[in-house]
Amino acid sequence: MTIRPISRRRALGLAGLGAASVVAGMTGWIIDAGLPVGGGRVRPADSGEPLRQPEMVASRDGILNVRLVAGAGVRLAGLETSAWGYNGTSPGPTLRVRPGDLLRVQLLNQLAQPTNLHTHGLYVSPQADGDNPFISVDPGAGFDYEIRIPPEHPAGTFWYHPHHHGTVADQIFAGLAGALLVENGPDLPVTADRVLMVTDITLDGDGHVVPPDAMTRMQGREGDLVLVNGQHEPVLAVPAGSVERWRVINGCVSRVLALRLDGHPLSQIALDGRFLAAPVDRDQVVLAPGNRADVIVRPAAGGRFALLAAPYDRGSAAMMGGMGTTGGPSGPVTLATMAVTGATGTLPPLPTALPAPTAPQGPVTGRRLLTLAMGTGPGMRMGMGMGMAITIDGRTFDPGRDDQTVALGATEEWTVVNTSPMDHPFHLHAWPFHVVDASIGTPPAGILQDVVLVPAHGQVRLRIPFTGHAGRSVYHCHILDHEDLGMMGTVNVLGEAAPATP
Ligand code: C2O
Ligand code: CU
Ligand code: CU
Repeated sequence: MTIRPISRRRALGLAGLGAASVVAGMTGWIIDAGLPVGGGRVRPADSGEPLRQPEMVASRDGILNVRLVAGAGVRLAGLETSAWGYNGTSPGPTLRVRPGDLLRVQLLNQLAQPTNLHTHGLYVSPQADGDNPFISVDPGAGFDYEIRIPPEHPAGTFWYHPHHHGTVADQIFAGLAGALLVENGPDLPVTADRVLMVTDITLDGDGHVVPPDAMTRMQGREGDLVLVNGQHEPVLAVPAGSVERWRVINGCVSRVLALRLDGHPLSQIALDGRFLAAPVDRDQVVLAPGNRADVIVRPAAGGRFALLAAPYDRGSAAMMGGMGTTGGPSGPVTLATMAVTGATGTLPPLPTALPAPTAPQGPVTGRRLLTLAMGTGPGMRMGMGMGMAITIDGRTFDPGRDDQTVALGATEEWTVVNTSPMDHPFHLHAWPFHVVDASIGTPPAGILQDVVLVPAHGQVRLRIPFTGHAGRSVYHCHILDHEDLGMMGTVNVLGEAAPATP
């Protein structure tokens, strides 16, 4: 029998229930008195407040010009912190564009380290000033991104975050992320359309972000605080009889969200920015880091219902042979509460006509095998004293090396094998994929997606149409600590894009 040390999360919760808390000075800080100095964790000060929406900036006349200033000092969980955000908020503003638009982002870096910007899930060119993960923006410098959204782009929920190799996890964990919505035509018949951007972070008693230790990076860090739109356990006030659309974005660095809503199914209408053919009622919607789900919620009777992240075992404790201090399934964590007012007898109908994109598939023109591994070996170079490397095909990331070369227009089948005892969320930029099958038997979603969990000691088979745009980009584990430790490769898609047909 192993005795597991109490996790910080548990300790925080228990301290909140029993131990004395002190309010430090006039700052509004509530610090757990029961925790040692230096290990003190912040207590959220805004639990139960109404859920807010990030500021929304929308394109006009085919163009969205937006300036995003990455800098320190944002309000999170009701407290002034030294966490990071865009334009002073975390999440940053919600960007809203339409197919065919030009998205122009002027990124200004007010951090003390390089950063850049990635539009996660957008089916756009990775070249030049586009969605190019190889760009680096120095402290004090700026960069003008020009991202052309193709006219045939699906309408849905995407997001943006930094992608500077080596510090991606640190920067997202510190708060740098925002929603990016592609709109198209008439909206669904819903009474509310909300972004629920879920992030996690660990803050000390002074509101500073707590960095993980080496072992926690190997496992993939999970923050003590799980926030929705930067708020701790906010409340969504919903009149009975409403039809709510929630766009849930898993912006956590490593945490898998197994979403559940007390007393209600989650009627999933979209995954990773693409509508399903029809709504599917689910007890639980599992989102790997990076995944998004749009769900419809239809409360018919009054009451308070928790939106939870249920415990999910992603194998991080097994990975460390039980040595970890933060291993094991996390949760359940309350993300938010739906407070339903009034009562009705009838359930409003679900929207039926979902604008599911058609995804023509050509014949498979090539097959590849990719192997995700964690272990000792020649790739080991992290100097962590752990003697462990996190690799794809036996090597860590090298931005100068082409790991895969693909002809534009090819449809390839990639089998991604995971030899480690942890799940790894596999993500490919710029070219979304169909999951054809997975070793744990998850039925294919039938639509294109951009992140898929590759189960521990298992595999997934993907079908990838390399269409639309050529260019060089990356695939990686979306446990962003793993990405920073080298679990990333490059794909170079060569050829000339056919001119857009009207
Ligand atoms: Cu959301 Cu390359 O990542
Ligand atoms: Cu991405
Ligand atoms: Cu991983």
